[in-house]
Amino acid sequence: MKILIFNQKGGVGKTTTALNLGVGLAKFGELPVTLVDLDQQTHLTAALGYRTENFTWNVSDWLTGKTGSPQQVDERLSLIVGDANPPLNLDLSETVLNSKGVVIIDAPPVWNATVAHLMQRVDWILTPLEPEFMSMQGISRLLETMEKNHISWQKLRLLLCRFDNRLVTHRQMRESLSQRFSEHVLRGVIRNNIRLAEAPAYSRSIFDYAPDSSGANDYYALTHYWLNFLNSK
Ligand SMILES: Nc1ncnc2c1ncn2[C@@H]1O[C@H](COP(=O)(O)OP(=O)(O)OP(=O)(O)O)[C@@H](O)[C@H]1O
Ligand SMILES: [Mg+2]
Repeated sequence: MKILIFNQKGGVGKTTTALNLGVGLAKFGELPVTLVDLDQQTHLTAALGYRTENFTWNVSDWLTGKTGSPQQVDERLSLIVGDANPPLNLDLSETVLNSKGVVIIDAPPVWNATVAHLMQRVDWILTPLEPEFMSMQGISRLLETMEKNHISWQKLRLLLCRFDNRLVTHRQMRESLSQRFSEHVLRGVIRNNIRLAEAPAYSRSIFDYAPDSSGANDYYALTHYWLNFLNSK
């Protein structure tokens, strides 16, 4: 199963979701999980405690099919580290997504040729978004872009992040999203939780940093949503 985590809007929870879903699937599932840091900000690499300059093989090499190995993070979890200075034009390899197990790709907040190529090839596109009116417009734009690039909407799943149930606007937004995009909206949300923002500073996932937090609960539920998919195959 391959999941691309994408939203062209910045700061919506893509990297937080890649990290905690990736660790969750490795911890609570049975398949090997590969996390891919596609963003030149290299936040995912940093959140796992690695520095890109210490690696000679990175995501650009992976994309172009050069031989090399991902960094082993844990028993079932590995990381393809980010490239802070990626070349402008990558000659993407046809075999780039042939790896086995679960692959989770943390995309940058921009639409580019690499993102488009990977979108064609993954099984799912998971789009975290914040419960704000502007997010709705962003999703409509994303759907248009996907259509233009002949990418099926069927693979799109929307995940509300930084959700606060006490706020009427957030509840309204959840309602409107569900009405408009129905089965594409995941029922579970990720609540706003400061522990999620703190964990990367300690190179930890939420499950290790604050296992009793609401953040750990929400990412545990998200992990199980995807594990059910894997088990139903
Ligand atoms: N549910 C949450 N509760 C509290 N803080 C959160 C939550 N999700 C993400 N954050 C924080 O919000 C900020 C942005 O999150 P994140 O880096 O995951 O977004 P992003 O979409 O990957 O951003 P970019 O587009 O720059 O890559 C980070 O400081 C992160 O720790
Ligand atoms: Mg990010």
